[in-house]
This record gives sequence, structure tokens and C-alpha cells, in this order.
Amino acid sequence: MKAVIPAAGLGTRFLPYTKAQPKEMIPLVDKPAIQFVVEEAVASGMREILIVTGRTKRAIEDHFDTNVELDNHLEKSGRPTALEDLKALMSAARIMYVRQPSPLGLGDAVLRAAPFVGDEAFGVLLGDDITVDPPCSAVLKAAHERLGGSAIALQQVPRDQIGRYGMAVGKEVEPGVIRLEDMIEKPTPAQVRSTLATIGRYVLTPEIFARLRATEPGKGGEIQLTDGIRSLIKKEDVYGVLYRGRRFDVGDKVGWLGANLELAMEREDLRDGLKEVLDRIRKKA
Ligand code: G1P
Repeated sequence: MKAVIPAAGLGTRFLPYTKAQPKEMIPLVDKPAIQFVVEEAVASGMREILIVTGRTKRAIEDHFDTNVELDNHLEKSGRPTALEDLKALMSAARIMYVRQPSPLGLGDAVLRAAPFVGDEAFGVLLGDDITVDPPCSAVLKAAHERLGGSAIALQQVPRDQIGRYGMAVGKEVEPGVIRLEDMIEKPTPAQVRSTLATIGRYVLTPEIFARLRATEPGKGGEIQLTDGIRSLIKKEDVYGVLYRGRRFDVGDKVGWLGANLELAMEREDLRDGLKEVLDRIRKKA
């Protein structure tokens, strides 16, 4: 199965950092967010990957490219293993790029992938969400293989966060699987009863492209993927799959800071030093 990673957003929530840097290159401890996403795709059996980029996104291509000067330097300084994981990932994945000419929305970015995808179901992984244990795309791929149709990852969110997500409504057909009846992009809490949010992971049938071509600009004047899926629901089965693994929302500042702390605490080389800093901060607070 192929994967599409939309990475063309302007990243306005993280200005000024994102003025000249892609938000997808924001680090989690010492690894850029997009590397986690590519790792998830590969771990889910999606080795052919299209990254949809835009202006100011060149650092993403450089990251997944060789850097001969750096390799030579690491070799000489006796640290040739520092990039081992990334190199293994680069040889496991086949990454391609296409630019979205103007930022017309997530739906338009996914539409840029139509020639790459062809006529098979494909994964979509958004860089603002990091999922681990198990890789969310693997869960969706398995659901698609078992049930057919499209599969979208969902998690319950508190009512005051409803306005940040595409919200889903449907009927549970088996534990943790919901046949979707409707979706709405970033509603007000008064507009929906459901607290099931889409968390940036999708396996979609190629029918989505025809739906997106017919989708008018929606929320924020952008072509919304959620609106395309809403139209897809009328034609084909779309299942919502409750994701029970760990997810970090790194498109949100507190989410990103928290992810850094959580991941750093899991590392032996950083845990003790970080604990001291946290103790100091707690005493001050
Ligand atoms: C996008 C989608 C939204 C989804 C969210 C998950 O919004 O439009 O439907 O719930 O990702 O992170 P964004 O966060 O890019 O504004």
C-alpha cells in the first residue's frame, strides 16, 4: 500500500519558527516529526511514500537525502552510527515529492497525489499527529483489508476540543469499529453530539479523488479532506476505527512540549538530567 504525507501547510500556529522552516521538521527530542511519520508508514507496510510539499519545505528533502560531508566527518570522528536509524529508514522507504502550488487546503494537497496513487487504496498520514505502539496506519490497513471501503482513525476528545478536529458520527458495527454516517470539519461543540475526532490517519479508496475534485471550499475557505470523505460516505462504506495506542498532538504547543518530555523521559541518556530540571521547575511553581 502506498502512503501520502501532506506537508504543505503554512504552520502558522508555530510562528515565528515556521517562517522559513517546515513545521514538519520540528524536533521531538532530536528527531524531526516527519521522520516519525515516515517510520510509521514503513512499519505499516507502506514503503512507497509521496510527500506533498510547498515553498520553504526544502529541508524535508535534504533530511531524507545523503550528506556526504557529514558522513565523512562522522566516520573520522568515530561516530559512524549516529545516523544509522535514518539510513536504514531511507533504504526501506521510496520517498517522492510533489509541490502543492498554493495552500488551498488539505483536500487539495491529497488531490495532488492522485497520479502517484493510481487505483488502489492508500494511506494518508498527517504530520501534526505522531502515533506509536501500535503504528496507527497498520491498524487502519488491517481494518481496510478485513472490511473493505475506507478506514479512518478516531479517538474520543473532550468536548472543549471539538473545534480543533474533523468530527465523525456513525453506528458501531463491532467493538471499536463505527460505520460512518457523517463528518463535519471543526464544528462548534453545539453542532455535534459526537466526541469522536479524526486524528490524522486515513486509509482511503481512490474514489476520494473524484469526490475531492467536486468539493467546494469549506471551513477557512479551504478544500477540506473531511468534506471529501463526507461525500465518499454517501457512495461507499467508510469505517471509523478507534485507535487505542499512544498519540502525540505535536501541532499544538502544549502537545508538542509534552511529547518532548515524555519521549525524553523514556531515554536512559536523558532521564536523570531531565528529572533534575523538572524538580527545579516544580519547586519554583
Ligand atoms: C486536520 C484535519 C482534521 C483532523 C486533524 C487531525 O486539521 O482537517 O479533520 O481532525 O487534522 O490532526 P488541522 O489540525 O491540520 O487543522
